[in-house]
Amino acid sequence: MDVLLLGSGARENALAWKMSQSPLLGKLYAANGNPGIARFASCFEVQESHPQAVLQLAKRLGIQLVVVGPEAPLVAGVADVLQKEGIAVFGPTAGAARMEGSKRFAKQCMLEAGVPTAEFEVFEQVEAAVARARAWGRVVVKMDGLAQGKGVVVARNAQEAEEAVYALWALGGGKQKLLLEELLEGWEVSLMAMCDGERFALLPVAQDHKRLLDGDEGPNTGGMGAYSPLPQMSEGMVEELGRLIFPPVLEVLKKRGTPFRGVLYAGLMVTPQGPKVLEFNCRLGDPEAQVLLLQLNEDFLALAWACAQGELRQGRLKSKPGASVAVVASAEGYPTAPRKGAEIFGIAQAEALGAQVFLAGAKDDFGRLRVSGGRVLSVCAQAASLAKAQELAYAAMEKIRFEGRHFRSDIGAKAF
Ligand code: AMP
Ligand code: GLY
Repeated sequence: MDVLLLGSGARENALAWKMSQSPLLGKLYAANGNPGIARFASCFEVQESHPQAVLQLAKRLGIQLVVVGPEAPLVAGVADVLQKEGIAVFGPTAGAARMEGSKRFAKQCMLEAGVPTAEFEVFEQVEAAVARARAWGRVVVKMDGLAQGKGVVVARNAQEAEEAVYALWALGGGKQKLLLEELLEGWEVSLMAMCDGERFALLPVAQDHKRLLDGDEGPNTGGMGAYSPLPQMSEGMVEELGRLIFPPVLEVLKKRGTPFRGVLYAGLMVTPQGPKVLEFNCRLGDPEAQVLLLQLNEDFLALAWACAQGELRQGRLKSKPGASVAVVASAEGYPTAPRKGAEIFGIAQAEALGAQVFLAGAKDDFGRLRVSGGRVLSVCAQAASLAKAQELAYAAMEKIRFEGRHFRSDIGAKAF
């Protein structure tokens, strides 16, 4: 079948790499793609969150399946428009994508489904939110809608809480509701499942590293690295967690008339009181996708097609033995003001060691590869153990050179 992949990050580069291994694949197209994705796909330019533009491109190319990487096109209703025209799509409709598009909606679904989550209150007025935030002090402040990772502030005292409320209120232009949430302590894990509206299949479990610097210091980022699986979680524990979360949530969404087809991502905090869901996303995580696709010993395209058709076989997905690690290289100044333009060297040398390099903020400039965004690339390795995967990923990272290159040197260290 001919497939159109939407997106242009390292997650989509990993998806293109994985789908290119499927015997079911005819031609692979991507929009907008990047030079890493272009190794596997013909790339086209499109406004990816413009449903009609995506539909026209899919029709022109005679696409059988559209696979959507990022959340924005889904929240904008790209899947709705494609489905209406009879083009299969892996990714939820706008109604189901509200699990990520509206934190308040996700909380309501969690309550209805009986999924454990942090205590919370919703505010429509900034004054009321400030008063409550000051009283609460240690609190997490969240903006209801999408904010490209900037919509959550963990406040440790009353002053930080007040500042966070004003900042997020301004970010939402005074039109977005705010949520105040109980601050949970513990360790985080990302659990994702492929869903066909009713059934689900658990993907390999992964852990992200959100802070910029080693030891979880510095500002929050889109994610600086990941590993999969987590030795601190037995397979039984992962499966039990999956059963706790996905069936009731899928049931609630189906009952509401918005069945979820695509990847449902549960961001969890494992607390002394047990695991609690911090948030849902309507897509694969990035950089989690890079490691879980390396671990996955299944035909991803076949699974995506089954989900899109509502014909997924529920059950365990096979994983490769061992573990995978992804280390993100970011540009100087990321996340506030990434410096663009530096030339990137060493990708072939890194891959010659046996690693896989997936590109994100990198563009082709008349045959030279240059930095074009904050998270530049992910260096990924799969090996017989987590320690070996780490060793390989870091050896490969040493081969990558560009001015201002930054990466964390402790990806996966928490597992030991
Ligand atoms: P998000 O940008 O929605 O992925 O959330 C960013 C991060 O905020 C999460 O990965 C957690 O580290 C943190 N966070 C969100 N909610 C809570 C909470 N209730 N307690 C503690 N940390 C939280
Ligand atoms: N890595 C976190 C996310 O994709 O939301």
